[in-house]
Amino acid sequence: MKAITIAKDVYWVGANVHTEDLFEGIWPIPHGVALNSYVVKGRENAIVELVREWGGASHVLIENLNSLKISPEDINYVILNHLEPDHTGLIYLSKSIAPQAKFVTTEKGARLLEGFYGITENVIEVKTGDEINLGNGKKFIFTEIPNVHWPETMATYEIDSKVLFTGDAFGAFGVHQGSIFDDETPEIHKQYWEEETLRYYSNIISMFSSSVLKGIDELKRFDTRVIAPSHGLVWRGNPQAIINKYVRYSNYNRDLGEPEICIAWGSMYGNTEVMLNAILKGIASVGVPVHVHRVPNEDPSFILSDAYKSAGLIIGCPTYEYSMFPPMKYFMELLKKKSIKYKKVLYFGSYGWSGGAQKDFEKLSENMNWDISESITFKGHPTPEECEKGETVAIKLADEVKKIPSKIKNEEY
Ligand code: FEO
Repeated sequence: MKAITIAKDVYWVGANVHTEDLFEGIWPIPHGVALNSYVVKGRENAIVELVREWGGASHVLIENLNSLKISPEDINYVILNHLEPDHTGLIYLSKSIAPQAKFVTTEKGARLLEGFYGITENVIEVKTGDEINLGNGKKFIFTEIPNVHWPETMATYEIDSKVLFTGDAFGAFGVHQGSIFDDETPEIHKQYWEEETLRYYSNIISMFSSSVLKGIDELKRFDTRVIAPSHGLVWRGNPQAIINKYVRYSNYNRDLGEPEICIAWGSMYGNTEVMLNAILKGIASVGVPVHVHRVPNEDPSFILSDAYKSAGLIIGCPTYEYSMFPPMKYFMELLKKKSIKYKKVLYFGSYGWSGGAQKDFEKLSENMNWDISESITFKGHPTPEECEKGETVAIKLADEVKKIPSKIKNEEY
């Protein structure tokens, strides 16, 4: 592997991780993930973000450093924008092979450095506006952007190159597809990045959306030529494109999302599925894009992504032992956890001896700012009249969703 030049004396030295592991032990990453790490060379050298030992990533990072003729003992500063172990796992190694390096992080980051790695020495705590001068014109300015993703997070701006290192902010799942840069991304790969960025945002960042908007506001004061996040593409051609994309995503849980409908459904014996078909017929007659996901057959990671961006959300599942079909209950809890708010929502489902799923649905919908249609529930198999009612309610919801304007704009790159 070889380091990749981002600007004069600024290099990407990260690794693309192909793995069947789950991200954070929860989220599938069938297209892997990039662990971006960067080197800035001045009179002294700094590395910004590390990697964790994952799919050979630490070996790749050391090889990339070697290609710059930098060995770990030549590194004077390890800048840690965010302490989550996907970016800090290698610390145990740098501690033994680069004992002189100083760790640079926020006050909260220093506490995590101690908690995760037992490190209390050679730590420089910085706050917004603090600077570190590497010499030869290279100088960092730090900005705290708490809760993007964890409370200790900061961003690091290098004034000479105008590169802004943003940690998880502006990140994505997915490995690079032949280039790390937005301006070398062919049209054919843009849908891949849209999907991997949205799924990353909805799975990892969505509950911190108000902090994302605050962070973006804080970082406006810099004249940024390149956005260099800790995952995903490096935005050199049009950094504003990823800012616009993140603003759009962060607004999805403050208003109504795109004019699309996401359906998450599960069925034990096909009765709830009969109603699903009636509902799909109603939506098709209006002509709104619909994303249909079966629970638990599909992983919630992918369903969350469609639920997050869609203005319409339909939950269909039966009652199971006096409460909601368990895999759907888990999905509903994830919707709450990830703040998938401000949707036009419908619940439908079958029950046998007694209901229970609807009660759970109502409980789990509390404080979600959902505009909820009348639920469609039925005993056992739905009658033709009940199916007709389901179709009518679906048409009404689809009509409302269709009127919502799309928020996608100014994201060309
Ligand atoms: Fe990529 Fe929150 O760590």
